[in-house]
Amino acid sequence: MLSRDTAITFLGHATLLVETPGHKRILIDPWLRSNPACPSEWHSPSRLGKLDAILVTHLHGDHVADFEEVIQANPEATVVGIIETVRFLTTKGAKKTEQLNIGGSINFDGVRITLTQAVHSNGGEDAHGNMVYGGFPTGFILKMENGFTFYVASDTGVFGDMALLKEIYAPELAFLPIGDRFTMGPLEAAYATKLLGVRHVVPYHYNSMPVLTGTPEEFQKHLRELLVNVNVHILQPGETLK
Ligand code: NI
Ligand code: MN
Repeated sequence: MLSRDTAITFLGHATLLVETPGHKRILIDPWLRSNPACPSEWHSPSRLGKLDAILVTHLHGDHVADFEEVIQANPEATVVGIIETVRFLTTKGAKKTEQLNIGGSINFDGVRITLTQAVHSNGGEDAHGNMVYGGFPTGFILKMENGFTFYVASDTGVFGDMALLKEIYAPELAFLPIGDRFTMGPLEAAYATKLLGVRHVVPYHYNSMPVLTGTPEEFQKHLRELLVNVNVHILQPGETLK
C-alpha cells in the first residue's frame, strides 16, 4: 500500500513494530502480553525478532507495561525517549539509551528519530506504587534510511503545531489515536489529519478497552465532512502495513 520498503506491524492499541528499509527492527511502546488487543502469537518477545531499538512515548501502562520482558529478551536494544522516561526505564533494565527532549533528533544508524510534543500527561509507577515523573509526554517522527517519513502521535489531543510538523518534516503517514477519553476522539483526529497533510493515516488507540469509544467509521465521517483527502488504513491487530 505504501511501497516505501518499510513494514509496520500493528500489535494492538498503540504498539507498533517497524522494520526499516535498512532491516532494523524498532518496537514502539511495548504493551504485548498484558495488552488485551495484542494477538496471543505476539505475546512472547521472541516473536518480535532481535530488536535494535525500543521507542517509548511515555510511562502510562498501556505503553510500557511489558517493557521489562522485552528488554530482558533484547538487552542490547537501544531505548529511546524523553530524558526522564528513559532514565526511569534504566531501573527496569534499559542499558543502552538515547535520551532526547522535544524538538530534538538523533541519527540512529541511518534512521532519523525526532521527539515531538504530545498534549497529554506522563507519570509512571515505581516498584512501591509511588508516582514517577516521566517528563513531558511525546510522539515520534521517524525518517527511514530511504527518506520515507512518518509520524507516530501516541497519546495526545490535537494541537495547532501539527501544521509545523507538516511544514518541517512532511510526513507521508500518521498514526493517530481516535479512542477518545484519554486522547483525541474521531473529530479531533480528523482535524489532526488535516493539519498534518498526510496522504496516509492509521487510526489507533481504540477498540482495546471499553472506555475507548471512538470508531474508524466516525473518523472517516469527520474526514469526509472536512473534505480531507487521505487514504485511511484500518489495521487489525497483527496486520502489517507496507
Ligand atoms: Ni497515556
Ligand atoms: Mn495510552
